[in-house]
Amino acid sequence: MGTDVRGERGLFNSDAKASFTLPSRFYTDRKVQEREIASIFKRSWINVGHVGDLAEPGDYLTETIGHQPVLVVRGRDDEIRAFYNVCQHRGHVLLKGRGQVKRGITCPYHAWFYDFDGTLKAARMTDDVPDFDRKDFPLRQVNLAIAGGLVFLNLDPDAKPFEDGYGSFDETINWHLKGIENFKRVASLEYDIAADWKVVVDNFSEGYHIPIAHPQLSTLYDTSGGKPGHHDKLFSHFQNSGHPAYEAMELGENEPYLGWVVWPNLCMLSLPGSRNLIALRMDPDGVGRCHERVDIYGEPDPVHPENVDALLKLFAEIFNQEDIALVESVQRGLASDGYDQGRYVADRAGSWFSESGLHVFHERILKALGELA
Ligand code: FES
Ligand SMILES: [Fe+2]
Repeated sequence: MGTDVRGERGLFNSDAKASFTLPSRFYTDRKVQEREIASIFKRSWINVGHVGDLAEPGDYLTETIGHQPVLVVRGRDDEIRAFYNVCQHRGHVLLKGRGQVKRGITCPYHAWFYDFDGTLKAARMTDDVPDFDRKDFPLRQVNLAIAGGLVFLNLDPDAKPFEDGYGSFDETINWHLKGIENFKRVASLEYDIAADWKVVVDNFSEGYHIPIAHPQLSTLYDTSGGKPGHHDKLFSHFQNSGHPAYEAMELGENEPYLGWVVWPNLCMLSLPGSRNLIALRMDPDGVGRCHERVDIYGEPDPVHPENVDALLKLFAEIFNQEDIALVESVQRGLASDGYDQGRYVADRAGSWFSESGLHVFHERILKALGELA
């Protein structure tokens, strides 16, 4: 376990005010990404969706976690289970996207057939295969937890319970977005981004850039003063006051603007104007690249139904496009010989309008990689 993380300018320090930023090699080195997949993505609770996608028996969703295909399906007994999305015959991937399967899961290759609980129910022409017992070929199950209406998986067979480290997550989500488990998915977006997954989380972890880089978004909330961020062991939460100046939405005063950065790769936002949750998750996809999936959940607003459309437009057409351009530019800079490290701009309050949350995220990264004690 190392204790010093040094770049060209100086050391990473556990005090944001005294620290230089994460050296650029952490964003550009293939070995770092391999270590992240092994020590972070295969060992952490990773969000894969929302219970709204799993309402009925046979409803399923699929996802990739650090290159590992996984599926989640609701059984006839109403239990939601997760498995590697891999057939136990010769390894074909079983399901794609999200949807519903009727009787069970049929492999598209040779039609081995699995029940929703993962048991192999039928395997064509195996009567002549000596000592073949279907019981020996169930799907490989993965740990699953549900909190705040969101579904999390952990590929580590020895995973600690979700509550360890995310203890108050369920409570804070339910406090701010009561009834979240009944929200519906109103949009899904996917992006291949030419930036390391951490650059995207970095960008989300700080509001320092918002007044500069997101002119429309910055009319939605009060940028004059930041409240301190709340940092639990494995997630951070930010809350600011909305501000009714975005012309496309009818807003009341002081509607909250909420943000969560959930270890390791889940970034969530709830914008003023409607009851909504925007969840972004980034999966590493080679050096300097990631795949971003965004799900937007909400519930109909009887008073201002147009606010949901305005929210989608603001996020998908403006705000997220601006962020993608920012992170891709930062990745080019991180990969250049002209940059290694800067400083964290942390304000006294430790608010989201500064970079104190960014420093918290980096400290979590370094600890998970064993670079910091
Ligand atoms: S790989 Fe699935 S049935 Fe052959
Ligand atoms: Fe941004």
